[in-house]
Amino acid sequence: VADSGVIADPKLAALSARYGDIAVPEAGPWNPTIGGLLGHRSVRGYVGTPLPEGTLETLVAAAQSASTSSNLQTWSVIAVHDAGRKARLAKITGNQKHIEECPLFLAWLADLSRLERTGIAANVPVESLPYTENFLIAVVDAALAAQNAVVAAESLGLYTVYIGALRNDPVASARELGLPPHVMAVFGLCVGYAKPEAASAVKPRLPQGAVLHHDTYDASREQALRQQYDATLAAYSRQHDMAHASWTDRLVTRVASPKGLNGRDRMRQWLEAIGFPLR
Ligand SMILES: Cc1cc2nc3c(=O)[nH]c(=O)nc-3n(C[C@H](O)[C@H](O)[C@H](O)COP(=O)(O)O)c2cc1C
Repeated sequence: VADSGVIADPKLAALSARYGDIAVPEAGPWNPTIGGLLGHRSVRGYVGTPLPEGTLETLVAAAQSASTSSNLQTWSVIAVHDAGRKARLAKITGNQKHIEECPLFLAWLADLSRLERTGIAANVPVESLPYTENFLIAVVDAALAAQNAVVAAESLGLYTVYIGALRNDPVASARELGLPPHVMAVFGLCVGYAKPEAASAVKPRLPQGAVLHHDTYDASREQALRQQYDATLAAYSRQHDMAHASWTDRLVTRVASPKGLNGRDRMRQWLEAIGFPLR
């Protein structure tokens, strides 16, 4: 720690921000790419400044560089430009205003429709389409692609926030985005420059011992680590004027009953309605 109280070592500073001072892991190799990853934070307020020309295409190139199951590339992305459409999508998400503010809003799609069209064009049956495994492949592909775009955006000094609330009503989201059957908007993503008042801090995560296991699963230290994390996150929330319910309390609310899913307990029916019967 330098005289100013600022941690001089960028690796230690990044790890302390990510885990809190009492849970800094013994991380080894380090470079600016890893430093960038550890600096991630979601931002929920954007200035209207447009992105440099070609940014969308750069982000999509990064996204398409992610691994993809069997090179099937079962995802697509829609860049939503129309202000009216953004407003209607924001309504689906419980009025998340950052969707309307951000200069680039991306809807990331699990997309099995290309597989279907390819099968139909080749005049072969498409009987594997409704199987859960294909849905999983498409969702995983979409998530990996999107996260590559997030990392690329952050490396350019942009900020992002995922918008899972497009799943508040996947049928309405599909209608708004003109999706064919067998395509689901898995989440949205706001991209842009942060409003000064929306600048956020790195949010601490669970101590590594809670998520990292060796050889076999071991939750024996989990309760103690969770309590430790509750304290770390409470301090973070106090410092950043955020809601004070502990992380454990929020998890408990989430898991106690289907109500904790905030209406998304109907996901199976919605998926069926947009062409994912999930066999
Ligand atoms: C799939 C996914 C969906 C999310 N959906 C929303 C959302 O609808 N609205 C929102 O404000 N944040 C959303 N988030 C952001 C998370 O709340 C955020 O990542 C988490 O609180 C950790 O904070 P951090 O990203 O700043 O580290 C989502 C994140 C993910 C990964």
